[in-house]
Amino acid sequence: MAGRRKHVNPFHFRAHPEGIDLPAALPFPPPYEVHIGAGKGDLVLELARENPGTPFIGLEIRDFLTDGANRQAAALNLKNAVFINCNVNISLDRLFAPEQVRRFDIRFPDPWFKKRHHKRRMVNSRLVEEMARQLIPGGDIFIMTDVEPLFHEMAALLSSHPSLELAPWNAGIIAGDTHWQRHKSRTGAEIHHALFRKTVPSDQRTA
Ligand SMILES: C[S@@+](CC[C@H](N)C(=O)[O-])C[C@H]1O[C@@H](n2cnc3c(N)ncnc32)[C@H](O)[C@@H]1O
Repeated sequence: MAGRRKHVNPFHFRAHPEGIDLPAALPFPPPYEVHIGAGKGDLVLELARENPGTPFIGLEIRDFLTDGANRQAAALNLKNAVFINCNVNISLDRLFAPEQVRRFDIRFPDPWFKKRHHKRRMVNSRLVEEMARQLIPGGDIFIMTDVEPLFHEMAALLSSHPSLELAPWNAGIIAGDTHWQRHKSRTGAEIHHALFRKTVPSDQRTA
C-alpha cells in the first residue's frame, strides 16, 4: 500500500490493477480522457459533471486519493468518472488497448528535483511510447508544470516521438484547472504547458 506519504517512490510501488474491468467500471465505450497523476480528482470530477457523454479516467498512485475520488464520484452520481489506483510506469499498458484514449492530461507531475532522483520522473520514453500507442489518431497529450527544466524534458521526449507533434491549444481545448494549478497560480509561479497531437495511426509508423 502506498500510505499517506506526500511522494511515492515509483520504484517501490508494484501493485497492478489486474482486477479492473474497465467496461464494467465505466459504462461508456472508448475513447477515454485519461488524467495521469489525478491527485484528489477535482478536475476529473468537474469535467465529468460538465461532459456527461465523455468517459473520464483518473490514474493515481496513492490509494487514499483514488478511494476518496471514487467516493465523491458515487456521491455525485457520476457514471462517467472512475479512478484507478496504479503506478502508470508499470501498469499503463494493461489498462488500455491501442487507440482507446482521446486525451492524456498530465498536470504538475512530481518534479523529483535531485539529480539522483530524476530516474523516478513519471514521464519517460517508455511512458511516451505507451501513450502514443494508446491514443487515437488526432488524440492528444497535454502537459503542464511550473518546473521549467522538467517542462523542457517532457516536451523534448514528446516531440521526439515520430507519431506526435506540437499542436496549438487554447482554453477552449483544455478546460478547467487542478488543485496544484490553482495553488501555483496563487503563488505567482510561471506555468508552462504544451499540447502534442498524434498524427499517425499506430499501424502506419515506419520508425
Ligand atoms: C503534484 S501532484 C499533482 C496532482 C494533480 N495533477 C494536480 O495538478 O493537482 C502529482 C500526482 O501524481 C501522482 N503520481 C506520481 N507518480 C505517479 C505514478 N507513477 N503513477 C500514478 N500517479 C502518480 C502523485 O501521487 C500525485 O497525486
